[in-house]
Amino acid sequence: MKRLLVLHGPNLNLLGTREPAVYGSVSLPEVDRALRQHGQRRGVVVDCRQSNLEGQLVTWLQGAEREGYGGVVFNPGAFTHYSIALRDAVAAIRVPVVEVHLSNIHGREEFRRHSVIAAVSRGQISGFGPESYVLGIDALLTMNDARQPPRRAGAPVPRPARGRQAPGRRGSRR
Ligand code: DQA
Repeated sequence: MKRLLVLHGPNLNLLGTREPAVYGSVSLPEVDRALRQHGQRRGVVVDCRQSNLEGQLVTWLQGAEREGYGGVVFNPGAFTHYSIALRDAVAAIRVPVVEVHLSNIHGREEFRRHSVIAAVSRGQISGFGPESYVLGIDALLTMNDARQPPRRAGAPVPRPARGRQAPGRRGSRR
């Protein structure tokens, strides 16, 4: 069974009561339950974790491949806007990361409009409430290689069956 990891950053444990006009009234456990159910429908296991700590998020990103995840849906919260440590972690790993936000960060305060994570992510989804995470999962599943178990460093590159390789994918790492 393929596995995806959802990471929630700081203050997202307060979902449901935190600024409901901005972030909605659905709690984090409810969001996570819906994401696990969505994963079941799409044939993948979805695991969800939340931390208020930057270093913990770095550790989870670094461990994603070792733990067998084929992709990460990541809402870095306020770290989005300034954490070079998280940016470097996303850039360092081979597992594809999709950045998501509940609110549309581009329509909010100036300081939220810039993400240091976006340039090293596979893409960014912002502004659809909890649905942003669902779209993030679907984006990862749409990318062929997220469906493959991650390759161990040094392991031989699996040869595609003759004539089955999509054009333009040769030599691509992600
Ligand atoms: C957020 C947007 C961030 O600017 C903010 O600091 C958050 C949540 C979002 O999901 O909309 O904590 O990442």
